Formats: sequence, C-alpha cells, structure tokens
Amino acid sequence: MCGIVGYIGKQEKRALLIAGLKELEYRGYDSAGLATLEKKCPVLEIYKTDGKINALENLTQDFTSKGEGVGIAHTRWATHGKPSATNAHPHVYAGSAIVHNGIIENYATLKEKLQKKGHVFSSQTDSEIIAHLFEAQLQAQNLQSAPTKEQALQAFQKTIAQLEGAYAILLINTHFPTCIFYAKERSPLLIALAKQGIFFASAPSALSQASQMVRLEDGSIGVLDLHTPFKLEDLGTPSAVIQDSTQSDLEGFQTLMQKEIYEQYKVLTLLGRIKAQRVHLELPKGFLENLSCLSVVACGSSYHAGLVGKYLIEDLAQLKVQVELASEYRYAHFATQAKELLIAISQSGESADTLEALKLAKSLGLNTLAICNTQNSTMSALAHATLLTHAGLERSVASTKAVVSQILTLWLLALELGHKRLSKQALQEQIQALHASMQAIQDALELHPQIQILSAQILKQNPKGYFFMGRGVFYPLALEGALKLKELAYVHAQGYASAEMKHGPIALADCSLLSIALLPQNLLFSKNLSNVEELRARDGLIFAISPTPIDNATFQIQTKPYPHYMPEFFSMLVVLQLFALEMAQLKGLDVDKPRNLAKSVTVE
Ligand code: AGP
Ligand code: GLU
Repeated sequence: MCGIVGYIGKQEKRALLIAGLKELEYRGYDSAGLATLEKKCPVLEIYKTDGKINALENLTQDFTSKGEGVGIAHTRWATHGKPSATNAHPHVYAGSAIVHNGIIENYATLKEKLQKKGHVFSSQTDSEIIAHLFEAQLQAQNLQSAPTKEQALQAFQKTIAQLEGAYAILLINTHFPTCIFYAKERSPLLIALAKQGIFFASAPSALSQASQMVRLEDGSIGVLDLHTPFKLEDLGTPSAVIQDSTQSDLEGFQTLMQKEIYEQYKVLTLLGRIKAQRVHLELPKGFLENLSCLSVVACGSSYHAGLVGKYLIEDLAQLKVQVELASEYRYAHFATQAKELLIAISQSGESADTLEALKLAKSLGLNTLAICNTQNSTMSALAHATLLTHAGLERSVASTKAVVSQILTLWLLALELGHKRLSKQALQEQIQALHASMQAIQDALELHPQIQILSAQILKQNPKGYFFMGRGVFYPLALEGALKLKELAYVHAQGYASAEMKHGPIALADCSLLSIALLPQNLLFSKNLSNVEELRARDGLIFAISPTPIDNATFQIQTKPYPHYMPEFFSMLVVLQLFALEMAQLKGLDVDKPRNLAKSVTVE
C-alpha cells in the first residue's frame, strides 16, 4: 500500500525523503514523488514519476533542498487513475501540495462542484481535490493579505470536514514554508520528534532518526511548525519507534521471499507459550472463559490461516467458529451472539478491510482479539487484546512466515480453549505434533532442489490452469497454494475442497489441466486418492504432494512421513511456497514485489 513521508527541519530534504520512501517500499506501490519548500525561497519544488523509487532518485539527482523548510513524499498504489507521473503524488494547486493515502469516497461530487467554479484538474485521482478544496477555502475567506497560520488551519479543517472515506494527508503551502498540515482518518499516520526536526510517516520503519512516535488516532487534524514548540504527548500516546532493519540484507539468498521461507523454522518458536505441558497465552485473565462461539475476520492469506484455525479450534475445543472475509463481514452484518469473541487476523495490522470489520464488531459489543505480526499496529491498538505472532519483519509482499506463525498461534489458541476437555495424553500428543511441525518446516527445505526441477518441467508442460485440492485443513492449504501461485507467477490457479471437484470443476479435466493434490497420510488419504483417480481417468495431469508414492501421478514431491497430519500440513505448506517461488523465478518475475500487489492494503 502507499507510503507517506513528511519532514520539517533544516536537513537536506531530497535525500531524507527518498530514504524514507525506501523504508516503505515493501508496502507495494506503482509510482512516487516528492515536494519541498524552503523558507529562504518558498517555491514549491515538485518531482514525480511512475515506476520505482530509483526512478525518482534519478529524476532528482541534480536537486537538493537545504536550509529550513518542509518536504513531503509519497509512494502511490493507484485506486483512482492509472499509475503515471501525472497521477503520482504530490498533487499541486496554486500554492499548495498534498500527499494522500486512502480513498476519498465522495471525490466525484466535490470535483464536479469545483469544476463548476472553474477549477481545472490535471490528474484522474481522487486525491487532487484536496489541494483544490484547501485553496478554495482560503479564497472563501476573502483575505486582503496573506493568510495567518490560524486562518490556514481553519481552511484546512473545513477542507477535511468535506471529505468522506479513508485518508492520511500531508499538505504544504508556500505561505508557510516551515509548516505541515496533517489529517488522519482510517489510514495510518505517525508523527515523531527528533533533534533533526519533525517527521511524519505511514509506518515506523521510515522514522529512523526518531526514538519516540505517536500513532495518530482517527479524526486527528492539525498543523506542526518548526517554530512552534509542541510535545508528542499533545498529539497522542507516545511509543517507542520499533526499528526493523527494513533494508533487510538478503544474507546470501536471491530474494527476500526465499530468505523468509528459509528462516521460518528459525523464527517460528513456540515463544515459551508451552510450559509444564500447558499452553500459556499472554491474554487478560478470563479473556477466553465461557465463550459461546468465535468469529474470525481476515483477508487473503490471513483468511486462509483463519480457516485452518476453524478446523483446529472446532476439533480441539468443540467451539463453533465462523470465518468470514473481512470485506464481507463489514457489509453483511452477520448475526452475533452473547459471549462471542471476534478474532481479527492480520500480518500488517493495517489492512483496511480487517480494521473496519474489527471496528464493526466492537460497535456490536463483541470482545475482540487481534492476531497480528506488527507491534504498535492500528489493529493491536484497536482490539481488546492482541496475540503477536512474532514472525519477525516480513518484507516480501507474498506472505510466508507470517502465515505459518498465524496458524501456529491459532493452534495454541485452540489448545488453550480446549484445555479443560483435552485429556493429558491428547494434550501431550498435540504438543508433540507442534514440535514435529517446527521440524517439518525445516525438513521441507531439503526438497527445494527437486521442486526447482519439477517447476521447470511443469512450466514446460504449460498447463491451461492449476487446480489445488485438499481436505480438512488441507483445503485452506489448497486455497493458500493457489493464492501464492497466482500472486507470484501470474497464472490462473484455484483452490478447492477435493471432493468438490466432482461437483462441476471436473469438467475442466483434460490433459492440459494440472491438479496439485495434497495427500497427507494421516487425514483422509484414500478419499483424496479417489479424487486423484477420477481426474486421471479423464487424462488430468496430477502433481501429487504426499509422503506416499502416488503411482499414477504425473509429477510428485514426496514429503517426509510424520505421525500427525499437522507436521504434514506444514511440510506441504513450505513445498507450495517454494513451488510458487520457483515458478515465478523461472518466469523472471519480481518475486518480492509482484505487480499490482501491496504488502498492506490500507484501502478498501
Ligand atoms: C499474502 O500473500 C497476500 N499478499 C495478501 O493476501 C495478504 O495476506 C492480505 O492482504 C492480508 O494482509 P494482512 O495479513 O496484513 O491483513
Ligand atoms: N486514492 C489515491 C490515488 O489513487 C491514493 C492511493 C494510495 O493510497 O496510494 O492516488
């Protein structure tokens, strides 16, 4: 998702802004730009380009912005108007420049009104209206001289009051070369104070020069000035800027995704959450007591983790779990029950769809739990309690170690919810399976060379489509495998519950359809085998992933055998991650930043 950086101070601004944008690059974007103003010469300097930040770096290589002043910068993930230099931010009108993350839902109406007043727009974006609205508000004050900061703030407040939707906005204006106007509603915006000046950013990683920050609450609006002292406490509750080495070193790997797949077994620990054969989760006392049911809301891979959690919780705790796509939960108003717990799962803790679903659940009076990989995220601040997944910073846009950590966390939650009904032996078996799963994640890496060879063979076969199939927890695994292949190799892939293939999709079966069949030994093996036979009877190509040799498979990766289906699950998850990685690499695609994708989708 887009990134925003702002600075007020005396440091050279071009380098600082670009360095900040690079720290947000992982969020995914399609264009970038920056604007500066200097006190000694308050003229807006604007540079914008489509493509990567290094294109902006090249564009500004002869530009520096020294001395007291302000700068704003932006990486855009297009929602309104194609990725292009014209549509890139900052957007300028008269003496104002703005950057915006989010969607102005009522922009069309506002734009039409402005056009009737003679405003001419240069971009197709929703964001551009913000600069026009602000200048129109200034004009409406009929000032005989330059506006004061108070008059400008009033104009800014009236501007923001007209907007509907989600936004994190920074605005600079030639009358105020040491000020930045800011507003925040549903899109993340942080402010930090350091000796070098005042910093604004979408995420902590771009606040490298500061130690303390404030994550603005919805409804925050104001103006900060280099010459008007303020305390961070005035803006909200300060917290430490948790630095992750955002320009993660590849440590010898070709891509961040490969590095993150390979570090899964190291990073993923049970975090001391199992002591004396008992699960201990850092939740408020009684938080999980007497629940009637659970609802889970999430998006993408996090949604797939939620589906796995459903199987585990219903099996181990005999508690009803309803898993919904966050974007659907918001508008469907699913029925709720007394003593229902809502769980929001999110790696970033910033996905707009999941945040809004969480807010809705809270407004309905539900207790809420966030399962999140990002400390100090908007989601963890919103929920009544948070379980951090501690997968470490995940930079590759395609989620790998975060999903694995989410599933492990849900498994521990299932054991905690079911501890009263599980026998000592059953709990012991589960704990052994947990430890075996951590080993299975590492074991699967040994299959990488075979996966590389098999991927080349499959690519050569050039199937018309990829059909992932599994039963039980391997059904959401099939969904996740299909998503990984789609988002990395840009091919059509679909995940299905194995038995469902007979109810329609089998019409696709022929010698050009490749079915990736998940055949664990410890869960419905023979049933899955029947589904493979049904496809083979129609010349369907089979890529079997199983610890058991599958005679008539076209391709097979033979995983290690384990005594429980969950170590098999994690082993196959790693195989599917590596398969998607290899297919993308063989096609020469950008594995870490696939086209059109964002690491954190902070728009609806
Ligand atoms: C994962 O590979 C995808 N990039 C995407 O589906 C992601 O899982 C989804 O956008 C949810 O993100 P979140 O976990 O940060 O909320
Ligand atoms: N909606 C705005 C645009 O399309 C901002 C998108 C973003 O958050 O990057 O330009």
